[in-house]
Amino acid sequence: MVKAVRGMRDILPEQTRRWHQVERSILATLASHAFEEIRLPLLEYTELFARGVGEATDIVEKEMYTLADRDGDSLSLRPEGTASCVRALQEHGLLYNQNQRVHYSGPMFRYEKPQKGRYRQFYQIGAEAYGFAGPDMDAELLLLAWDCWHALGIQDRLRLEINTLGSSKDRAAYRDALVAYLEPIQGQLDEDSQRRLLTNPMRILDSKKPETQALLEGAPRLPDFVDAESREHFEKLQQLLDQVGIPYRVNANLVRGLDYYTRTVFEWLTDELGAQGAVCAGGRYDGLVERLGGRPTPAVGFAVGLDRVVLLHELAEPKTAFAPADIYICVLDESLMGTAMALSQRLRSLLEGQRIRINIGGGALKKQMKRADAAQANWAILLGDDERDLGSLTLKHLRNAEFGQQRLVWQQALDQLND
Ligand code: HAM
Repeated sequence: MVKAVRGMRDILPEQTRRWHQVERSILATLASHAFEEIRLPLLEYTELFARGVGEATDIVEKEMYTLADRDGDSLSLRPEGTASCVRALQEHGLLYNQNQRVHYSGPMFRYEKPQKGRYRQFYQIGAEAYGFAGPDMDAELLLLAWDCWHALGIQDRLRLEINTLGSSKDRAAYRDALVAYLEPIQGQLDEDSQRRLLTNPMRILDSKKPETQALLEGAPRLPDFVDAESREHFEKLQQLLDQVGIPYRVNANLVRGLDYYTRTVFEWLTDELGAQGAVCAGGRYDGLVERLGGRPTPAVGFAVGLDRVVLLHELAEPKTAFAPADIYICVLDESLMGTAMALSQRLRSLLEGQRIRINIGGGALKKQMKRADAAQANWAILLGDDERDLGSLTLKHLRNAEFGQQRLVWQQALDQLND
């Protein structure tokens, strides 16, 4: 048997119900903040991510699924959505002189080491806003995420960390100072950090190694390099968060793994998923539109890691009352199958949202009732000769012995099923 590719999961029917619930809830929250959906391709030119996410990032350097198109073009499965989102809005002239608030969702692909909460195909819902330079939009996005957690009932399992990286000039100056500090002691750094010193030195601040963290104690600090304007932006953001009552912590070491960020960066973290603490992350990326060939456009956004949110939701609500069907129609005589199908259609149009399963494949009443039970239905409708004209229906409540089995005229039956 050919198996699934490592790190690419099947999400089985039992789990998809929870996924739907989580996705529906987040999409409803996005809609309530008046964000609009954009759908983006899974494949893009590799160059988009090299230029957008950054050549020296782990994602572009070693995690992309890259392939040659038949005409030789280099394509990559998207490792994230922000670069594609900018590309699409720019390509369709939707950024110049306009504001945009959009969201997207779907699978992303990164060749990472798979473990619980970390997959090679994983799912994100992202939200991005363009044309808003002030900290009010940073706050609105954090409020949007906060509302998502509340709607899902996982707000107590998450905490917010924020930081400012300053302007891209500040970032570059800080990077140089950090490299100058670390170069003379590079031999003492862990292997990963030694490599990062050459490619993406600020990520060394993220290192989980205590020895590396100890070496960083005397290092230059990012906040000392942040210009006055960015500092003011950051302070205003904090004031807004205080006013709306979103708790947060400033973490001066939070730098993020993608190259496009300027000023505000943030992560929503949990301690309940082992090493995979980040459940949602993002920040401001005022330079990216220009870097990808557009006019300077302020931008800010985040992406929710759906796989991790689903895991948290499972902890918050371990048992959900999902059953495959609500109503099961037992067909007592083969010649009644057409009537049963007509009945099921009528009920579906009258009983909104109820899942109606019709018995397929015949079988004695006992067998059909067993199937109704396996579907965890609340009701069985027993369709026999007496109900052929559908003037009445025989209902059996499968969870309420008191109701038992009753033959009711159509309207009464409908009222019961609707209850
Ligand atoms: P990111 O931090 O790379 O940012 O990913 C965002 C979230 O996606 C992470 O916090 C995590 O929950 C989830 N995630 C990332 N990799 C994996 C994986 N291998 N398995 C499972 N979940 C994963 C971005 O992608 C940016 N585009 C976010 C953004 C939007 N910034 C501005 N706008």
